[in-house]
Amino acid sequence: MIRDLVRYADPRLFAPNAAADPAAPDFPGLLADMIETCRAAPGIGLAAPQIGINLRVAIVDLTVGAEPDALVVLVNPEILEATGEQKEDEGCLSIPDVTERVIRAARVRVRAADETGKVRELEGTGLLARAFAHEVDHLNGTLFVDRLRGLKRELTWKKIDRRKAKGLW
Ligand code: NI
Repeated sequence: MIRDLVRYADPRLFAPNAAADPAAPDFPGLLADMIETCRAAPGIGLAAPQIGINLRVAIVDLTVGAEPDALVVLVNPEILEATGEQKEDEGCLSIPDVTERVIRAARVRVRAADETGKVRELEGTGLLARAFAHEVDHLNGTLFVDRLRGLKRELTWKKIDRRKAKGLW
């Protein structure tokens, strides 16, 4: 089922997220809904709080459903290592039509369980590293615009608040 996307400034984006249990009866349904909602958006990643569920679950799929093997399920993810630097445009389904250049690590190593509860370590570079970092940020209540600095940060937040006030979402 496609769920409604939670948009800024909904408090669920900033609420604490509890550890998720892949063995919980409602977990498969939640995951299926996240995958469907992310593909429909379309987006390359989605965190559970973005559909109003404050659990530490996120998905990343750089192919937006084109290649089923590309789907990465991140249950209770932790960033183990973040090295190097990349600066690329980034956006978020919870802040429609706003993209800004964000500095992220070029390589990110993450430890997370998959949908069966098996814990494994994953490594991403480039866009995958960016997506891992962006989704783990969501689980910590951080949005990509929080990563901006100085005047750009100020102007971007003003733009977001203006769009929000106009009722664009
Ligand atoms: Ni996002």
